[in-house]
Parts: sequence; structure tokens; C-alpha cells
Amino acid sequence: MNKQKELVSQDYRDIDRDHVWHPIFQHQNLEQANLTIFEEAQGTTITDVDGRKYLDAYSGLWNVNIGYGRQEIADAVYQQMRKLSYYPHSQINMPATLLAKQLADLLPGNLNHVYFSNSGSEANETAIKIARQYGYQMYPRQNRYKIISRYRGYHGFTYGAMSATGQSPRKTAFEPLVPGFNHVHPTCVDEVIRTIRWEGAETIIAIIAEPIIGGGGVILPPDDYFAKLREICDQHNLLLIIDEVITGFGRTGVMFACEHWDIQPDIITLAKGVTSGYLPLSACVTTTEVFNAFLGDSSDKKEFGQVCTYAGHPVTCAAGLANIKILTEERLWENAARVGSHLLEKLKSLQNLSIVSEVRGKGLMIGIELIETNQDNLETMKTNTIVRLMKEQGILIGKISYVVDEPENIIFIAPPLILTQGEADRIFETLRDILTSNDF
Ligand SMILES: Cc1ncc(COP(=O)(O)O)c(C=O)c1O
Repeated sequence: MNKQKELVSQDYRDIDRDHVWHPIFQHQNLEQANLTIFEEAQGTTITDVDGRKYLDAYSGLWNVNIGYGRQEIADAVYQQMRKLSYYPHSQINMPATLLAKQLADLLPGNLNHVYFSNSGSEANETAIKIARQYGYQMYPRQNRYKIISRYRGYHGFTYGAMSATGQSPRKTAFEPLVPGFNHVHPTCVDEVIRTIRWEGAETIIAIIAEPIIGGGGVILPPDDYFAKLREICDQHNLLLIIDEVITGFGRTGVMFACEHWDIQPDIITLAKGVTSGYLPLSACVTTTEVFNAFLGDSSDKKEFGQVCTYAGHPVTCAAGLANIKILTEERLWENAARVGSHLLEKLKSLQNLSIVSEVRGKGLMIGIELIETNQDNLETMKTNTIVRLMKEQGILIGKISYVVDEPENIIFIAPPLILTQGEADRIFETLRDILTSNDF
């Protein structure tokens, strides 16, 4: 028996308590929190160390798009590790080259130059740095460095991406932040126009936005929002950076959420679904026009001056290729659209309940906003109870946290894109029974 098995789950709890620092977690409450030890997973089902099975209706953290445990990914990773386990991306490796081509082929317009890194935060950090350097190189007589981003938007934990983020609870403890980020209302395009006028277009280089705000509450844009944003960017020579870290790779019922509103980004950032969480990988992809601004003689020093040890790692890129092969061969975005609209329609029927103020989403990216009888946000404790009761019934869902300083009243449903209609019905029926019970 191996060492892992010799330890019983209480041993893991003890060691974990003594040595592990969990994200956004009050360790003083560790005993009561009773974290789950997950041990294995297959398809949409994840199993804990005591053998309890859960339908993962949150895809890990919005990212296990193809589902857990696919042999093809394990094989691709194993073979690549044996062949070439690593070399820096200052040279060429075949999986990274093929994945860059694959992304360029799949993405809209002429988004076709790929800078790889490891996480969504790093992809956005890269996009922000590319935008600023682009601004200095394209408009040397101006001082274009400001970036407009949106309240409630999330772009990552690193300083630039965090500064772009519009969720104060995730930022205030770490101030001062990176200067030059102006936040606007998440769905009001007039506020973008006003901000540009008041700041001066010649001081701004980019706008960054998620097509559908994810962790900030599953907030959809008005139908004409992105067309107008594109128009504003063209009018003022701003880059449009679209963060598809959650929405990319089929989550919303199309390969990239850009397609819903025919958005043509200058830069797009991708992570999560690019490997479905099998390995950490992200990409910042630019148009030819943006890329060309970095061409010049060596003496011009126009190259993008950023190195990342694990950028374009051959093994993670092999996982990415195998993941996209599964996504495209099984046309999983179509399943996300079909099963997602079935689930959304069912969940919308819950809007008749006094506790549900709105059900919204696209594909398998759904948010349910909950209210008290006096129309205030549902208390965080009650939202937590709903999440706990769902878990007790064997279904994992997510909830808003650390976004605004008010009760956390939105729950998230974002299952793997392989979800069956039967599983969708089970999610709906379980949630309906909990919301109509008097258990919280
Ligand atoms: C829209 C969006 N952008 C960026 C990130 C940051 O990605 P990561 O956690 O991989 O750094 C996230 C993470 O949830 C996200 O939802």
C-alpha cells in the first residue's frame, strides 16, 4: 500500500491545518468549515475521500469544460513529457507552435499572434503590458497608458490584473495599486464615453472587458454594448481587450463569447478552458496590427520585453491540443448551447418564487440572483446554506464572493460542457426543492 493510502483522512486534515494556506479563507474557522478532501473524478462526477459522489455543477472553478479524467489528455501529456519535458520558449517547441496555430484558426478576425503564460491573471497582465508598450510605440508624442475597466469585472490576482479588476474587496488590503486604471459601470456605455472625454482620449490606450462578467455576478451586456464599445475604440484609437478566461472554449454555447455579439477584439485573453484545468496554461492573443507595432530594428528596442519561464511549456501545450481536439470533435459548445438553454429555461421558472429575483446566463454559464422578502439581497449566510444544502444533495455549485461589500446573493451554475439533460434536470429539481423548502 502506498504512503498516500496509509494516511487516513484525519491525518490529511491535520497536516493541511498545520501547513497549507487556502485561498480567500479564514483559517481560524477551519474546524467548522470541514473542507472536503477530493480524491478522484470522472466526467461530471467528483468523489471525496469517503466515497461520496458529487455532480460538479461549477466545473471546478468554471474551467473543467470537457469533464474530468479523459485518457486522451493523460496520454498526450505522458508522451510529451517523455519526448521533451521542457525547454524555454526562446526557441521553438512543436506543441506550442501547433497550439498557437490552432488558436489563431479558431479565434475570430485576425487574432493570430499568441503569447503563452500559465494563468488567466498572467494572460491579462501580459495584455495590459502589451497595450501600454503598444501605446508608447504607436503614439510617442502622447502619454497613452490608462486602461478603462469595469466595476464588478474580474481579471486576476497579480498587480496589473488586480488593478483592472472592479471588485474592491479583492484589492483594498493590497493598495497602493497600479496607477492608470479607470473603472466604469459594467453595462453603461455612456459612462465609457464620459470617462474618455474627462480623462482625455490621448491619455488612454485600452478598454478591458469580459464579454459576460463571470465571478462578478454573471452580468450580461446590453445587446448593442460591444458594438458601441468597438466603435468608441475605433474612434479614439483604443485597443479593445476581451477577457475570455471564463467564457472561452464553449462555455457560453459558442466557441468564444465574442461570437454572440460579433466582437472584434484587438487582444483576447484565454485560460481555464484551454486545457479544461488538466494543466495550467493561458494565452494572450493579439491581432497582426498590434503585433506589427513591436517590429523594428534591434536598436529600436521595440520587442515585447517579458519572459516567463513556463511560457509555451511543451507539456501544457500538448494538453491544450488534446483538450481542443476533444472539444472540437465532440462539438461540446453545441451541447453547452442545447443543454444550457434547457437548464436556463427550467431555472427561469423559479423566478416565480419570491426568493429569486433573476435567473440569467448563456450556455452553461448561469447566475441566479436571490432576494429577501423586502427585496434586499439575500443574506450571505442564507446563500451559503443553499450552497451547503445542494452539496448535501450531491451537487456542487458556486456563489459570488468578495465582489462588493454587500450580502452575497448570487449563485453560479457552470457545469462541464458534457452535461446531460438528465443531469441538468437533477440540478434544477434539487435547487427548486431547496428554494421551496423552509430549511434556511
Ligand atoms: C474573467 C477572468 N479573468 C481572469 C481570471 C484569472 O485567472 P487565474 O485565476 O487563472 O489567474 C479569472 C479567474 O477566475 C477570470 O474569471
